[in-house]
Amino acid sequence: VAALPASAHLARAEEVRDWLAAHSGDYLERLRALVRVRSVSADPAAGPGMRAAAELVAAELRDAGLPDCEVAETGGHPVVLAARRDAGQARPTILVYLHYDVQPEGELADWSVPPFEAVLRDGRLIGRGSADDKGPILMLCAALRGLAECGGDLPVNLIVLVDGEEENGSRSLPAFLDSRGDLDADLVAISDTSMLGIDRPSLVLATRGTAGLEVELRTLDHDVHSGKYGGAVANAAVVLAEVVAALHDENGRVAVPGFYDRVRPVDEATLAALAASDPPEQDWLREVGARGESGEQGLRVHQRVWTRPTLDVVGTWSGHTGPGMKTAIPAVATAKISCRLVADQDPDEIAGLVAAQLRRLAAGRAEISVRPSHGSRPVACAPDSPAAEAAVAAYEWGYGTRPVLIREGGSIPIAATLAERIAPVLFLGFGLHGQQEHAPDEWLSVRNFELAANALVMFLLSAADLPRARTAST
Ligand code: BES
Ligand code: MN
Ligand code: MN
Repeated sequence: VAALPASAHLARAEEVRDWLAAHSGDYLERLRALVRVRSVSADPAAGPGMRAAAELVAAELRDAGLPDCEVAETGGHPVVLAARRDAGQARPTILVYLHYDVQPEGELADWSVPPFEAVLRDGRLIGRGSADDKGPILMLCAALRGLAECGGDLPVNLIVLVDGEEENGSRSLPAFLDSRGDLDADLVAISDTSMLGIDRPSLVLATRGTAGLEVELRTLDHDVHSGKYGGAVANAAVVLAEVVAALHDENGRVAVPGFYDRVRPVDEATLAALAASDPPEQDWLREVGARGESGEQGLRVHQRVWTRPTLDVVGTWSGHTGPGMKTAIPAVATAKISCRLVADQDPDEIAGLVAAQLRRLAAGRAEISVRPSHGSRPVACAPDSPAAEAAVAAYEWGYGTRPVLIREGGSIPIAATLAERIAPVLFLGFGLHGQQEHAPDEWLSVRNFELAANALVMFLLSAADLPRARTAST
């Protein structure tokens, strides 16, 4: 049971709430300006947009009361790093992690509005990155500015780290963290996850890891006439389909020897808490027009997504994909495979196990080359830490409803590294289920923007009372 927010904080939080009610419209406009900057980290042509977005974020953080803020080079896209350590040694330091990069917009024709025009419609801000993860950056700025306007001092020390490569695997960040000795904190708060709904605020207790592989399978030296050779030689597209199909058994389990060996069973208390959050699973499937189900039989949808590892094909290509027909047997077929991992699976080990199984399945029929791509470790946090309890109380105060405990099927590539090198992780996200992140017409709820800022205010105030976990630093 979470403690109620200390009454000492209530009066100030209420004052900030009034300030936010009057000023969140201004912050929404600032968010629109950030959404208009196309910061697609995966696009090699997006360099100027990346830098412009980083500079804009830095300007907002300075304006919000963090003058000590830099746009720092990483070798990849820059990170924005701000710090404020004037609460004193007795107070904890919170490192807040966010990202300013966004997913590619995809096909313009699939959007109902241009993806980088930050259109406001029906209480929604529509645009790539509005929810993931630019909205939370401005929510934090609004909360900090509100606190500065009402009562002055921030009761915690704060580091804000805004990544420019999260959507592309945060490749440059580990080396950047190594190069900075000044990122000591007691708690890492990652503001990049979703809740079940605005009336169902949620505390996320885990994110999954990832293991990706790129597969190329070859059955011939070159494509051949399908009339002359069809039926006599192995077809790369067909062999690949058979190989891929053999990666799951008839019960929906991943049929890769060793795949589940390190899966740590979820404890009963967490399972009960997740079941109690009661996500409406038929709606989840209906909302996306699912024509069928997949995954492990006997588990509810949210159990499969939140507590179990998966293996999926996320891209595949073979033969003639242009217009019209070309009657040739393809010599080569490729597939991109992406696994989601749970504690204590290791991305390199899983990639190795999947690669070995692919080789076994293709043996005697095709040559196969397998290359690991992205990899990140899963993170799970305890529901009963003082930080989690402070977060529960903050969501409850901000949203007027006690949050449910959930997990997240998605991944934050740097989360495990932050947990290992800096401090325990807490997920302090404010996305809403259904906001179409990574999809056309991504949107952010204008009302949620203000409620989230309120919850953040209460969290920052009550974080001042958290124990200092850090070993004494000089
Ligand atoms: N914010 C998401 C993580 C997330 C996913 C939160 C789904 C809530 C729901 C993050 O930006 C993300 O998209 N991560 C990628 C990581 C990948 C590019 C390595 C993901 O999960 O696919
Ligand atoms: Mn994100
Ligand atoms: Mn994302």
